[in-house]
Amino acid sequence: MKKIILLGYMGCGKSTIANKLSKVIQIPFVDLDEMIVEKMNLSINAIFEKHGEIYFRKLEHDVFIELLNAPESFIIGLGGGTPCYANNHELLNGDNVVSIYLKASIETLFNRLAFNASKRPLIADKNPEEMKEFIAMHLFERSFYYNQAQYKVVVDDKTIDQTATEIADLLA
Ligand code: S3P
Repeated sequence: MKKIILLGYMGCGKSTIANKLSKVIQIPFVDLDEMIVEKMNLSINAIFEKHGEIYFRKLEHDVFIELLNAPESFIIGLGGGTPCYANNHELLNGDNVVSIYLKASIETLFNRLAFNASKRPLIADKNPEEMKEFIAMHLFERSFYYNQAQYKVVVDDKTIDQTATEIADLLA
């Protein structure tokens, strides 16, 4: 069964776009972060605080594998860092997988994350200036992994509906 994977940096709109796409193509959406939160009964912030990032990355890998091996078709929304750890990027081109990188500019990401960072442990403590610098550097470091996706869809200046339609057309 098919797995449609949406990936991209924090704030690129993975969950919102996946929810809309799910309605358009009638395939259920599963959010990897939400699965982890449910499994652990802890928020992402609490997992980072209590167990550390390495523990989170291991868990993220295991839950990703579990979802890929499930018999049903899913849209899977990855966390921003998922493709960059534990060789997860190699799974973006597996059997029955369609992977789509939702590409957003530094400006778009900053505008979306600046006032919405508290639930994201990697940026929660940064002031706006530090955050912009961090996003620019981090996005550059992660681009190699994001670019392993089979398709790239630019999300800047598009509505959720437009992006979801563009992805549905790619999949048709
Ligand atoms: C992370 C992104 C988050 C979440 C965790 C780490 C990252 O997901 O998995 O805070 O490393 O970029 P979102 O991209 O859904 O915010």
